[in-house]
Formats: sequence, structure tokens, C-alpha cells
Amino acid sequence: MTQDELKKQAAEAALSYVQGGVIGVGTGSTVNHFIDFLAQIKGRFEGAVSSSEVSSERLKSHGIQVFDLNSAGDLSLYVDGADEANGRLQLIKGGGGALTREKIVAAASETFVCIADESKRVDVLGAFPLPVEVIPMARSYVARELVKLGGTPVWREGFVTDNGNAILDIQGLEIQDPAAMEQQINNIAGVVTVGLFALRGADMLILGSPNGVNIYEP
Ligand code: 5RP
Repeated sequence: MTQDELKKQAAEAALSYVQGGVIGVGTGSTVNHFIDFLAQIKGRFEGAVSSSEVSSERLKSHGIQVFDLNSAGDLSLYVDGADEANGRLQLIKGGGGALTREKIVAAASETFVCIADESKRVDVLGAFPLPVEVIPMARSYVARELVKLGGTPVWREGFVTDNGNAILDIQGLEIQDPAAMEQQINNIAGVVTVGLFALRGADMLILGSPNGVNIYEP
């Protein structure tokens, strides 16, 4: 099976958690499969709050209503992908650059179901470059601060987030204490969000594998 087929399998398995109301929907190729599956059960829920403009467009193209989080209030369910997940369901996210809105929707949701193919499961986070969204004028300053943490920040040149900001991808980290590092990076002036989801990780991880889906809880 291809990696994309494994992503699709995980996305389909997440459908059973959709119980109605307004649901949170993330960003990425795995979530794109989830959105396409959602179109088949449109009558079972009211609509979605989305973590990116691209997901909003895909939802709307299927005739699924997109709500503003400010009017939707707290959500019961958030479904999103990940770039890496450890055994405690702490994640690296933001490969698609939507980390800030993803973190907001995850925070506002009661249950975060993470969907991915099995290659995303790791023992120690950090092999995937850790994305950090920064205010453009602070980019070089934040990069110098990140070097002090032992990583190599690389500017995602030409990329602008939905919030008008820049992304630095930190290479070469071995993240032994994800919650501490999340707090440390978030405390640097000019950082909007770090793509570590450790303080609020996933509640459930659905991984597609050649033998079917595997479901993990922390
Ligand atoms: C976007 C994300 C995605 O969830 C993450 O990059 C995984 O993407 P994919 O499903 O394409 O593998 O965090 O900002």
C-alpha cells in the first residue's frame, strides 16, 4: 500500500468520531482525505471550523458550511494530521504551515483525534524539522535564539502563513522534553507559535498501516 492509501485509511476511520454539531478540521494531505469522506456524511453534522484557508476552500467545495471559531464556541471534536507523533501522543505539526490556527482549534476542542500513516510514529520527536511561526520583523532575532537551543533554524523562504507571518524550520533537534521545549520556544519574543503539541497533545492517534488501522491513546 502507498503512504497515501495509509493516510486515506486513517482518515476514513476518524469518521466514526463525528457525532454531530460543528467539528474542527485541520490541514494537510491526510485531512484532505478526511474532508472528502466528510462530504459523504454531510447530513450528520452542522459544519466545520477549519485551521486554514486551503481546508476551508475544500470544505466549501463539498457544500460543507465553514464557521468562524468566534461564533462556533468550544468544539467537541478536532481531527488533524501530524508530522511526527511520540508514544505520549505529543506531536510535531506545521509541515503545511498552519500550526497557529491548528493549535487554536485543538485548544478549543474537547477531543483531538490525530490521523496519520504509520511512518509518523517516532520514539523521540525532532527528526522532522520543527516549524516555528514568527512575526516577520523578528525572524533573524528568533533564529539566533533558536541556535542557542541547539538547533539549526532554516527560513521557509517565500512562504507566508495565513496570518501573514514567516516560518523557521528547526533542524537537528532531539526533543527529550517536548512540553518544556514548547514553553521555552513560545517564550521567545516574536514567536507566534511553535509546532510542538505537547502541553495539549492528541487524545487519540489513528495510524494507517498495511494491516489496517491502529488506534493509540496516551
Ligand atoms: C499542517 C500540518 C499537517 O497536519 C502535517 O504537516 C501532516 O500533513 P500530511 O497529512 O500532509 O502528512 O501540521 O500544518
